[in-house]
Amino acid sequence: MIYMEVQQIEEKLKTALKPSRYRHTLGVAYTASCMAMVFGVDVHKAYRAGLLHDCAKGFSMEEQRALCKRYNISLEGTLTKSPQLMHQEIAPFLASDEYKEQDSEVLSAIACHTTGKIGMTPLEQIVFIADYMEPNRKMIPGLSKVRKLAFEDLDKCTKTILKNTIEYLTECGQEIDERTVETYKYYRDKKEN
Ligand SMILES: [Fe+2]
Ligand SMILES: [Fe+2]
Repeated sequence: MIYMEVQQIEEKLKTALKPSRYRHTLGVAYTASCMAMVFGVDVHKAYRAGLLHDCAKGFSMEEQRALCKRYNISLEGTLTKSPQLMHQEIAPFLASDEYKEQDSEVLSAIACHTTGKIGMTPLEQIVFIADYMEPNRKMIPGLSKVRKLAFEDLDKCTKTILKNTIEYLTECGQEIDERTVETYKYYRDKKEN
């Protein structure tokens, strides 16, 4: 079985991504692994998922469209309106093809890192949250609260991020993916356990 060590993945990503994106990638990997320590999730899976979540971001939109075709990802519907989501759809395929990631939990965490999805696993939530609040992210209203919640309550933190994202996209008049809305409703209505 082919397997790439974390160091090899990092070296490859460093050449595939622009420096600021690579910095963000490391920020997500370290933040996700710290959160994994707090919530009893596999630290190495969290680190690998953090590393790989934006592995498709080094490609232009045109190249991403070609990759969607290669991996039979439908370009109709949601991706027509929100092409910036293509990198999320491509990520699990590219991670498995080019970075030899075979762990289904890692792949599913990177497959919903932007929109979230209903009933996420703790690892999926961790990558979703770390992507939003890693230390290199520029300061936005509410970020301090999100950063605190990230180490206290995954569901509350997920809900807060989705609420902020929907408010932000609405203010900017940008398209909101229906998965973002349905994920928000799910976490808003989820009973505390
Ligand atoms: Fe992303
Ligand atoms: Fe990201």
